[in-house]
Amino acid sequence: MFEELIRAWDGEHVVARHDPDSGAWMLIGIHSTRLGPAMGGTRMKTYADPAEALEDALRLAGGMTRKLAVVGLPCGGGKAVLAVPAVPTGAARRRLLERYGDLVDSLGGSFVTGPDMNTGEADMDVIGERTPHVFCRSTAHGGSGDPSIHTAAGVFHGIRASLRHALGSDDLAGRTVLVQGAGSVGAKLVRLLADAGAAVLVSDVDEERARATGATVVPAAAVLETDCDVYAPCAVGATLNEGSIPRLRCRVVAGAANNQLATPADGERLRAAGILYAPDYVISSGGALHGIGLERLGWDAERLEREVAGIGDTLTRVYADADTEGIPTAEAAERLAAARLTDAAR
Ligand code: PHE
Repeated sequence: MFEELIRAWDGEHVVARHDPDSGAWMLIGIHSTRLGPAMGGTRMKTYADPAEALEDALRLAGGMTRKLAVVGLPCGGGKAVLAVPAVPTGAARRRLLERYGDLVDSLGGSFVTGPDMNTGEADMDVIGERTPHVFCRSTAHGGSGDPSIHTAAGVFHGIRASLRHALGSDDLAGRTVLVQGAGSVGAKLVRLLADAGAAVLVSDVDEERARATGATVVPAAAVLETDCDVYAPCAVGATLNEGSIPRLRCRVVAGAANNQLATPADGERLRAAGILYAPDYVISSGGALHGIGLERLGWDAERLEREVAGIGDTLTRVYADADTEGIPTAEAAERLAAARLTDAAR
């Protein structure tokens, strides 16, 4: 399985290490260093088998190349997965992260990491004890801190741009938005939307976490069939597929999850269904803008806000291109990312 996945991948190389003490697999996909060192978060998760984890890392790494190219950052793309038998806490978690920090350090800066699903600033602090090649340590430890408020803000701007394009107005009052996943990004998005006057529905596999947001809870099993203006996936990927798309009752799909489309054909399926899709790697770029902008590019808070708001403009451009060319929005985003990759590499 590993052989097939690596052979079929269009990235540069894969770093793999088995960690006998924890039973974890550390898998890093360096997808592209064409525009600069590869950057991308570290996801900690339990998978059915190591091949499923590698597949996730490789797909996510490709998404990072596109994400950073499309927003115009001078960085390549990569991603790491810590495939754990169970998400560790306490001393076991610290030791795993220390050994992982050593692995990242051994790459000499060709891969720079940051937080992702199930990892946060305390984890980045531990990794940062072993390597300087890490974003989003706590401010107390010299980092830029938790980026999730900017990921959420980028999605918020993206939802408004999407509503403007699909329905002619970006006013959230009277609109219903269903946020799937009440993790660090989803929970903050719920707040931004509610403050702007939207009716917010929320769902999470952990119902307690959903309830804690204060929004109206929808059972996880009912998400797809729930009537709403905007469906915002903010949890795992591949929720948009042949089986799920016909069940959707929304006008717009715009959320922070990475790799939302199971296959490229799902972009066309959404278009045929009359649903406007905000390409995931465009709308979810706020966290990367935070880490990379503040720590590498010398941005101040005001510049970061401007760039995060610009996510809405990038989406508007993608939608206009898709309309002009008569192609799915996912494909229009691919073309924009590909053009930036060639232009910048010239
Ligand atoms: N989880 C972030 C993302 O998917 C990863 C990231 C954070 C990358 C910070 C770089 C800096 O975009």
